[in-house]
Amino acid sequence: MATIRVRNTDEWITDDEAVRAFLANQGVYYEQWDLFALTPEQSNSFSLGDTEKEAILTALAPQIEKLAKERGYVKWDVIALSNQTPGLEDLLKKFEQVHTHTEDEVRAIAAGSGIFIIKGSAEVGYFDVNLRAGDVISVPEHNPHFFTLTDERAVVAVRLFIDPAGWVAHPYADIGFEKA
Ligand SMILES: [Fe+2]
Repeated sequence: MATIRVRNTDEWITDDEAVRAFLANQGVYYEQWDLFALTPEQSNSFSLGDTEKEAILTALAPQIEKLAKERGYVKWDVIALSNQTPGLEDLLKKFEQVHTHTEDEVRAIAAGSGIFIIKGSAEVGYFDVNLRAGDVISVPEHNPHFFTLTDERAVVAVRLFIDPAGWVAHPYADIGFEKA
């Protein structure tokens, strides 16, 4: 289950229903997937080749296809990040810039953990969504956000796209935004 940290106030939201209500209130889609179809090895491997990625997509196909049908995604893939990922630091620098997309950005965490930092309503400001395996989130289109890893520094996530072109980011300059 995801947890929330509101950056301006350092308030943590950890109660399941409170997390769901907060995200719904901020227009952020959230659901949880049962990952029973993944093997223990798939749940603990973060350096994946094409064959392993395809196997994860096959195992999670029922959930992926259901979400795609409901929300209009036409393409999906698997991204894996860990200390074994070549150029991880450069990739994280790219991901850690505040940006927007012209479609919603949906991620289903299959293994490991990650954090989406999302610009909320005016009274809330930026908040962290701490995601673990089974969490599925969608950042709304045009909503400023960025992604980073947790101290675990390992994640495997399914990405789903409406536009077959895939992940395209548009920088969003936010004056006064503090990363910490
Ligand atoms: Fe993004």
